[in-house]
Amino acid sequence: MSQGLSISILGGGSAYTPGLVQGFINKSKDVPLDRLVLMDIDGHKLDTVGHVVRHMLETALPKCELRLTTDRDQAIRNTDFIICQIRVGGLQSRHIDESIPIKHRVVGQETTGPGGLAMALRTIPVMVEIAAEIQEKNPRAWLINYTNPTGLVAEAIMKTSDIRHISICDEPMVLQESLGAFLRVPPERLFFDYFGLSHLAWARRVFLQGVDILPQLKDTVEHTPLEKIESLFGEEVLKDPKVRTELRNTLRIFRETGMLPSPYLQYYWFTDEILEQQIRSGRTRAQEVMQLEQVILDECRKAAAGKRPFEALRGGKRHADMMVGMLGAIADDTREVFIVNTTNRGALPELPYDKIVEVPAVVDARGAHPLAMGTMPVQVRGLIQAVAAYEELAVEAALAGSYGLALDALSCHPLVPSRKLAKSILDDYMAAHGESLAYLK
Ligand code: G6P
Repeated sequence: MSQGLSISILGGGSAYTPGLVQGFINKSKDVPLDRLVLMDIDGHKLDTVGHVVRHMLETALPKCELRLTTDRDQAIRNTDFIICQIRVGGLQSRHIDESIPIKHRVVGQETTGPGGLAMALRTIPVMVEIAAEIQEKNPRAWLINYTNPTGLVAEAIMKTSDIRHISICDEPMVLQESLGAFLRVPPERLFFDYFGLSHLAWARRVFLQGVDILPQLKDTVEHTPLEKIESLFGEEVLKDPKVRTELRNTLRIFRETGMLPSPYLQYYWFTDEILEQQIRSGRTRAQEVMQLEQVILDECRKAAAGKRPFEALRGGKRHADMMVGMLGAIADDTREVFIVNTTNRGALPELPYDKIVEVPAVVDARGAHPLAMGTMPVQVRGLIQAVAAYEELAVEAALAGSYGLALDALSCHPLVPSRKLAKSILDDYMAAHGESLAYLK
């Protein structure tokens, strides 16, 4: 790359930002960074995280210019890539998204089930606005979207805008990282036969040097006691209790199917078990994350005051390296394969042509070109198709501002047992979220 990149991060005050910045530092030889703009509507968080980022850059990339702003306009103009990781309504809204279904004895989760619909209905109008602003002010920039629910947000952007855009989720990257650690090879060396939707995808085969390694993994997993299993996947996985639980449940499914699912499949396969845990714990994941964020922001303050080095507790690791690698593939037109959320275009013939799907794609200066993954095993096809129909309706509901379509979407969701219950949950959301859902008529 002849010139360094200029990057903006919307939602730059997030606890994930230092981890992303670490990715740029790790990959700075291949993907040099000249300018970084962190934008956040929360000036307080922006300052705290900004301090740490400034320190990281001064130490590792002293020539990189850093700018902090609460003005979106400044982050959108004059930049090559706009990474978006905003959370509309913050963690308080996530708590509402997750707690209302639990009250109705339905799984309460950020992106899966009713929680995902509420998040989509709140987030899509803002993301459509951001895409329009990019189109007007900086049409040559790339939007790299991490904002959840990723697939639905991507679909809304694709339907309403022509901007250059790829949506990604760290989940497939964590999977690649974990399998790389298991095989003790860099994750980039693995090729995934992988299909589905964001937070509902499967790795059917994983190739190293042309050999599918999943039978070897299955054999190892079958001969390893459950409590020792995580150690097969390296230290990074062990550090985060949430990832550890997800990994255990993923492997329970892997033992039965021989395929590796997204960890979010646990909400469909172990619905009763998870719902019971959620009711018993009396706390939503949003509340846990609020606490974790406080710890991270305190760590940021200590690091900024020079009291200790900062360790990224959210994000970062190898998957930030992969994300930065993907930006490099776009900027340098190198045609590398990444698992991304992109328009289907026949890659999964059993899903609509225009649906946003999560599949491996060749990434180059023109964006993501999905690879044909073919038909899906019948055992999992129905669930993916049902969730795809829910997603389609949810996006339509947000774009049309339609309460009726939102109700149709929720009624179609496999985790919601009846239309009557769907209506009760939706009405509770309308009441609790107030202004942000008032556009649904
Ligand atoms: C995974 C998902 C993300 C999600 C993240 C954090 O990495 O792919 O979409 O935002 O977990 O989840 P948490 O519950 O810790 O906020």
